[in-house]
Amino acid sequence: MEPKEFGSLSGAADAYVSRMDAELAPPPLGLALADPPSAARIAAADRAARHWQSSEPGELRPGTDAHTRAVARMFRETFNPYKPAVIDWPKLSEAARARLVSLPIWDIAVQTEGKARIRMLAYAETVRDPDWHGAIELNGWEEGRHKSVLANLVAAYDVALAPEPPYPPPRHPEWAYLVTGFSECIDSFFAFGLFALAERSGFFPPELVETFEPVMQEECRHILLFANWLGWHRATLPWWRRPFFELQVLAAWAFLGLERISLARGVGGVPDQDNNFTVTGSQAVSGQDVSVSELMRLCLSENDRRFAGYDARLLRPVTMPWLTRMALRVMRR
Ligand SMILES: [Fe+2]
Ligand SMILES: [Fe+2]
Repeated sequence: MEPKEFGSLSGAADAYVSRMDAELAPPPLGLALADPPSAARIAAADRAARHWQSSEPGELRPGTDAHTRAVARMFRETFNPYKPAVIDWPKLSEAARARLVSLPIWDIAVQTEGKARIRMLAYAETVRDPDWHGAIELNGWEEGRHKSVLANLVAAYDVALAPEPPYPPPRHPEWAYLVTGFSECIDSFFAFGLFALAERSGFFPPELVETFEPVMQEECRHILLFANWLGWHRATLPWWRRPFFELQVLAAWAFLGLERISLARGVGGVPDQDNNFTVTGSQAVSGQDVSVSELMRLCLSENDRRFAGYDARLLRPVTMPWLTRMALRVMRR
């Protein structure tokens, strides 16, 4: 008997996907989605999303108009106009589909995108500077698109999801944005390494890895924006508000550190299937045992590779690469 192939939508799944696409409003900043995409157009958009140089001369110091202009242009000009609904999910054999479905990430991934979207949109509302407002609003919109992409993937491969919680707007938008931004810095750093591992091991078909690649690079753009927003915010905040802000930054890291420890220990009210994902993630995406130091080195090199195409004068997220380098140094001893 021919193995059943997944990768096409039917029935209830179809309805879910069209609802998600209907919920996705047009992007802000006058940007538009491209339809139908030709292979050449996809390749050009993909290249544009990864490479960007500012035409501003000299140093780009956070807090200056030149820096703000450059970051806003970077974010707008690296926008990838793909439409979630036209993504062609490759057909998978039952074995490959079973591996995909058993990844313990789908509930947490969908809910993380939903939360990130509302938190970014809520914070953008509070930002008066039009450049930063527009960039952060677009970032929030892109999180909604990630959620649509995941909805399509989940439907195409029959992944069962837990019912989604509501996503209420945050009561403290700046705090929520800080937590979301740093959380993306941590998660993306590990995701870059795990994604490369999945690709190298051939555990998943290359077409599936390729289909998901734009989402990975988009997360790189997001944390690039966040690192530069942080620099701008620090530079433009009145001196008397700085101490409280820095306390919030410390509190956000402490909160995220504790949250990840409780995730790994299996407490904190998250579904059981998501426990220990970072610990067992390399096994789950590659089918191989990879040492912690090997995975850390891969995360570092992937992080460098993904950021390499953007203007070197823009700030990069530094904490995760720094912590990882320190940990590797200690482990070598
Ligand atoms: Fe996202
Ligand atoms: Fe993001």
